[in-house]
Amino acid sequence: MDTTVSNEDFLATVAEKSHGAALRGDYASADAQYVVQQDWAAYTEEEHALWRRLYQRQMALLPGRACNEFIEALQGLNAADGIPQFEATSKKLEAATGWTIVAVPGLIPELTFFDHLANRRFPVTVWLRKPEEFNYIVEPDVFHDFFGHVPLLFNPVFADYIQRYGQGGLKAMQLGGLDQLARLYWYTVEFGLINTPEGLRIYGAGILSSGGEVEYCLTPGTTSRHIHLDIKRCLNTLYKIDTYQETYFVINSFDELFEGTAPDFTPYYEELKSKTPYPANSLLEGETELLPG
Ligand code: PHE
Ligand code: CO
Repeated sequence: MDTTVSNEDFLATVAEKSHGAALRGDYASADAQYVVQQDWAAYTEEEHALWRRLYQRQMALLPGRACNEFIEALQGLNAADGIPQFEATSKKLEAATGWTIVAVPGLIPELTFFDHLANRRFPVTVWLRKPEEFNYIVEPDVFHDFFGHVPLLFNPVFADYIQRYGQGGLKAMQLGGLDQLARLYWYTVEFGLINTPEGLRIYGAGILSSGGEVEYCLTPGTTSRHIHLDIKRCLNTLYKIDTYQETYFVINSFDELFEGTAPDFTPYYEELKSKTPYPANSLLEGETELLPG
């Protein structure tokens, strides 16, 4: 399959969807797969210092909240001292699970994104947020992408899940199922929780890289739901991009996630086409709140 998307087309689509707002990355030097060089020497001392502050803030929050798989892998990355060099981590990762890291200017077209994942390449944005974006950032930056996503790519089952998600994305594009499949990514890879013998833990990168949501998502008695992940239900659930999540889907293990997503989604997309999606904050009959107040 030809998986190239022209820069002009992509940037025009982004502009259209975002009412003229532009992406902030530098797309001029990207190749046909939107890969750039990480010009590590060009990061300033201020940027490394901001990375250290982000890293320290998150590390103080994660014990007892992030899943062990994440914390252990993160510690092996030696990423506390400044923005990491992708090359070095990519080599370790390749040895561990066969994944590599590719540097990208920022958000990339869906087709290109899925193609990278299907080939076990994880795209990581090169630029870092500004100090005034310490708590909140609209587009994913290197802190979100690297800190949030890279550690779990060291877990063999999760690594396989992301690859299969990429393959599933290419397929969903043919079947008109992208809206549905994107919800699964959102509610697992970005905002997923996992049940452990010690209690609920976080594995979603969108939470793990967020200053506020790490605590919020595990606080009992908020208005947000914590319900067991049912794949079809998740595919049919809307999500919010500008607030804390109103629903967190909980898995019991990465194996459960991997096996639950193994079936062919073609009939799911067919069935859901005629259904109205559930609002982001719904609790359906038979569902149990797993973090009662
Ligand atoms: N099994 C899905 C399909 O056939 C693909 C998929 C795998 C989606 C893993 C998500 C995660 O479309
Ligand atoms: Co992300």
